[in-house]
Amino acid sequence: MYPAFTHVPGTPCRATLPHRRNLSPKRPRVNFSCTANASRSNPAIAVDNVSFWWKSGRVALDKVSLRVAPGELAMLVGPNGCGKSTLLRVVRGLLIPSYGSVQLSTPCAFVHQNPDVQMLFPSVATDIAASVPKRPDMPVDEIRDSVIEAMEAVGLSPPEKYMRLSAHRLSGGQRQRAVVASALAMRPTTMLFDEATASMDPVNRAELVARVRRVVSERSIAALWVTHLLEELDVADTIIVMRGGKITAHGPRVAMMPLIYEMQDQV
Ligand SMILES: Nc1ncnc2c1ncn2[C@@H]1O[C@H](COP(=O)(O)OP(=O)(O)OP(=O)(O)O)[C@@H](O)[C@H]1O
Ligand SMILES: [Mg+2]
Repeated sequence: MYPAFTHVPGTPCRATLPHRRNLSPKRPRVNFSCTANASRSNPAIAVDNVSFWWKSGRVALDKVSLRVAPGELAMLVGPNGCGKSTLLRVVRGLLIPSYGSVQLSTPCAFVHQNPDVQMLFPSVATDIAASVPKRPDMPVDEIRDSVIEAMEAVGLSPPEKYMRLSAHRLSGGQRQRAVVASALAMRPTTMLFDEATASMDPVNRAELVARVRRVVSERSIAALWVTHLLEELDVADTIIVMRGGKITAHGPRVAMMPLIYEMQDQV
């Protein structure tokens, strides 16, 4: 069950999730709040002491806490089944934590591994245009400029070459770029990536990761990026390691890399 929750972008808001009786008799209040006023001291993504267990009682997240500041690219690694995707879904508000609190600055864009589930409109341009925040009197040219800007940011250039194409006429890698372009067109303050480049070849993957890195810094976006690919960690500001639903290590990339190489067969 989702909370009664409305948020007008640009205004802070807060929702308190309803208590769900059936999960645990000791279940405390859970907070999920959205804010538009993130700063380095007021992180855009803040997860505090979050636990999540499935209906079966199986624990997927165990007292997880993390923070991502505007302009920071945090990469989350860990073995299959350790809870990375569950954590992203809890951060996004798609799953309600069983315990703890989540604070998320909006708009928030979520990029999945499979671009096919995210491209819904007849052409690349309409798909990206659908994400552009609109004003009632917004000229069509302004929407078009935003679409072109987003396409160029992800390397779909020249944009005219791809704008009219339908998703099935793009390669898998081009489709994933289009999905990231749609995400950027939202003008997000936070972005969540769940193995977004897993289907791309190494050259295209590296190029897209570098472009996202640049946009995150330039637009002060707080980004949380799940990956199994150690080469992607090169552009991270911080690295978070998960295991069995817990965060086992967390720190700046330079400090974390020796540990990552030591345990590379486990991430
Ligand atoms: N809908 C669900 N119902 C019950 N259990 C689930 C559900 N989805 C995932 N799980 C379980 O929750 C745990 C965490 O899954 P999650 O998908 O978050 O792992 P992950 O770290 O993203 O793994 P991967 O690297 O394979 O993507 C796993 O044990 C998984 O089996
Ligand atoms: Mg996953």
